[in-house]
Amino acid sequence: MGNLIEIKGVRHAYRTASGPLPVLDGLELSVPEGGFVAVVGPSGCGKSTLTRLIAGLMTPDEGEVWLHGARVTSPRATVGMAFQNPVLLEWRTILKNVLLPLEIVPTKLTKKQAEERARHLLNLVGLSGFEDKRPSELSGGMRQRASLCRALIHQPEVLILDEPFGALDAFTREDLWQIMHALKAEEPFTGVLITHDLRESIFLADEVVVLSGRPARTQYVLDVAVKGARDIDHLYTPEAAEMLNVLRHQIAIAQGRELPATTRRAAQ
Ligand SMILES: Nc1ncnc2c1ncn2[C@@H]1O[C@H](COP(=O)(O)OP(=O)(O)OP(=O)(O)O)[C@@H](O)[C@H]1O
Ligand SMILES: [Mg+2]
Repeated sequence: MGNLIEIKGVRHAYRTASGPLPVLDGLELSVPEGGFVAVVGPSGCGKSTLTRLIAGLMTPDEGEVWLHGARVTSPRATVGMAFQNPVLLEWRTILKNVLLPLEIVPTKLTKKQAEERARHLLNLVGLSGFEDKRPSELSGGMRQRASLCRALIHQPEVLILDEPFGALDAFTREDLWQIMHALKAEEPFTGVLITHDLRESIFLADEVVVLSGRPARTQYVLDVAVKGARDIDHLYTPEAAEMLNVLRHQIAIAQGRELPATTRRAAQ
């Protein structure tokens, strides 16, 4: 129970040759166990920085990052990550790529159990029969599906997705959205999704957090009306249209194109 991820008052500046670059300024974010939160915001506002903080790859100048009741101060093995460019190793088969994290993170699984688990995940994402192929023999969408399996193989508590579907065509992207819901139903995880795609955010997440322009703070939180698995039809409802409008407006504010005074609240 309670929040699995808790980010409180986080401030951070990168040290650059031309002086400090403030990136995060008063970031607040909480994700309940089993929840799925999408983070949207202008390019360069600090979203990938946020993912590094959650994974413990860096610590903030100020504020706190908590994961499952423990302060995050070093890299966490209980976090799985997938990025826009699925970096799969060409000299390993798809199955061996999926198994890679288990060679790094301690596991209780025997070799046989681990392989069964990898095959099961590949089956869930529709990649049965491709276990022995090399990454270059797969399409971009298939590679991304394999990288999702790799991110989940060690049953991470948190799955962080940093624009994982950004490079895919619209149809493949929608397929992967549905695969994400199927994966989550079978392999419950707590998710943080960074995306530029507002439709994606309301299709996948329970809550959408809009970050302001750099230095980013939490500007707006939208509660998505439909929870859990949903189908593409939900994107064509009046409720979805209203949510997308609200988010578009918030992004315009974050980019400094509109004034916050005209802020409207999400339809409830
Ligand atoms: N290691 C670093 N050292 C210095 N500056 C950095 C570093 N990493 C990121 N930055 C700067 O911090 C800012 C935020 O970067 P970040 O990658 O978090 O943004 P983002 O919101 O993920 O952007 P995008 O939407 O384009 O992926 C950018 O201005 C970037 O140039
Ligand atoms: Mg980024």
